[in-house]
Amino acid sequence: MSTYQIEVVTLSPTAFSSLDGLGVIGRALASGIANISLYNPRDFTHDNYHKVDDEPYGGGAGMVLKPEPFFDAVNGIPPSSKRRVLMMTPQGKQLSQEDLWRWSQEYEQLVLLCGQYEGFDERIRTLADEEVSIGDFVLTGGEIAAMTIINGVIRLLPGTVGSSESLMEESFSDLLLEHPQYTRPAKFHDLEVPEVLRNGNHGEISRWRQEQREIRTKARRPELYERWIQKELCPNSKIDLNSSTDLDFCMRKDFDQNEDPWWE
Ligand code: ADE
Repeated sequence: MSTYQIEVVTLSPTAFSSLDGLGVIGRALASGIANISLYNPRDFTHDNYHKVDDEPYGGGAGMVLKPEPFFDAVNGIPPSSKRRVLMMTPQGKQLSQEDLWRWSQEYEQLVLLCGQYEGFDERIRTLADEEVSIGDFVLTGGEIAAMTIINGVIRLLPGTVGSSESLMEESFSDLLLEHPQYTRPAKFHDLEVPEVLRNGNHGEISRWRQEQREIRTKARRPELYERWIQKELCPNSKIDLNSSTDLDFCMRKDFDQNEDPWWE
């Protein structure tokens, strides 16, 4: 199994040292499942001040990250044939569990571009295959977004956590929120563990858990529940569930299965 290579282009490389001490992620890095290399665009400047930002053309407050140090940093990274370059920006597509699966399975090298200050020179965007946001809020830089992706991708690599079966199982149901979990004692401050979890009937337990996941998701994240229902209707499909045309097709196919074929 080859090492999954993560290359981070950042003006704050020390921010990433905390990953080494982060439980299973730290162990995956120590055992060579993944490796993180850091590149500071400041090291790719040629002026005496190591200037990485400048005033915006057209005026305005704040500074803009210069293109040359980012281009030189990215172009100096040894390429892999299965490389994906991701730019961290609140303007990007919102990160999802499906993205983490895709990057962990289809690529061997992730290049993560982290910005700071007011933003990137627009031309830096041309380096990226995808722009990613971790939510509709603005942080001071892309480092926390990059660490979120690193954590989520390494967790899915073979050998990091659990068995590949449990991860595969999760992949089919990851649109649903987790069911409630309990440990001993069975009664605590008048709060009791549900009877079904204590009776040892594994079939009943797994039905109860699935039901709880659906109830929770429907109540707390109705849009996620809707996507799960659609995935249930059209399993294994590669269609875009956010597209109404594809969804119409999926629904029709599903209804068709219950109808008499038109040629008979
Ligand atoms: N950089 C600053 N804010 C961000 C966000 N929400 N997502 C990704 N990168 C960012």
